[in-house]
Amino acid sequence: MQHLPTNSVVQSPAMGSDACLFRPMTEADIPQVYAIDHECFPAESMFRPYSSYGREMHNSMAHYIVACVPSRQRSEHMRRSWMRRLLSGGSLSTSPATTRQDLLVGFAGFWVMLDEAHIIAIAVRNPYRRQAIGEGLLLCVIDMATSLRTRLLTLEVRASNHPAQQMYLKHGFHVVGKRPRYYSDNQEDAVLMSIEDLQDPEFRERFRQQKSELLQQDYLSRAIEIPEDSFDPVPD
Ligand SMILES: CC(C)(COP(=O)(O)OP(=O)(O)OC[C@H]1O[C@@H](n2cnc3c(N)ncnc32)[C@H](O)[C@@H]1OP(=O)(O)O)[C@@H](O)C(=O)NCCC(=O)NCCS
Repeated sequence: MQHLPTNSVVQSPAMGSDACLFRPMTEADIPQVYAIDHECFPAESMFRPYSSYGREMHNSMAHYIVACVPSRQRSEHMRRSWMRRLLSGGSLSTSPATTRQDLLVGFAGFWVMLDEAHIIAIAVRNPYRRQAIGEGLLLCVIDMATSLRTRLLTLEVRASNHPAQQMYLKHGFHVVGKRPRYYSDNQEDAVLMSIEDLQDPEFRERFRQQKSELLQQDYLSRAIEIPEDSFDPVPD
């Protein structure tokens, strides 16, 4: 995986206490990315062994971004929830352990081949959906693909996956075709979507405005809701 300057990643300008941060994926993230992939794409990920994620990290065409709650915030959140349980007389079976790992709530991956970038996956863990994290990941992908001087940005999405299609349409993708019975688990069609020219000055200006509007609204830096039990299954 090629390492990109972090300034090509959309970052929150003023992080709130439980704000979400977008950064390039590292090897330490593989266990959580594997878990998210299997949770969000049960049919497709069946054919992706654990070792394939490590290989992707060394694939110069592949780029992965994760959405995370940084470990510092995560420890603070755990301390607060432990105190809450203590004060409310609830069960204290779980100790207020600190944790060194970021909590991953989503990831996105894309491949670059000549002047085309192809989105492999964008996924957000179920409890964290509808909090603009998917959109944040997509903005990072568009930003990075543009910096890598690609022109065409493409993807395939299940015909029944209307939430994802809505997200892509909102950010400038168009439907360009269909692959009949593309998905082998249920013979579902794939809808092909693309942005034709990432380098087009009009598109870049629209994207720049859209990104700065979202950042001004604190859209990407607002606090996200973290369910109390979401920390336990993540290994340290
Ligand atoms: C698609 C997915 C990544 C969206 O993530 P998310 O964080 O919930 O999405 P966001 O909160 O950023 O929403 C962004 C836009 O997506 C669309 N959207 C997201 N969820 C939606 C839903 N349930 N119904 C309708 N539109 C939806 C909306 O246009 C939304 O914009 P809005 O809030 O202004 O209406 C998430 O649902 C997911 O991980 N799904 C499973 C994996 C998947 O299908 N990935 C895409 C495969 S190509």
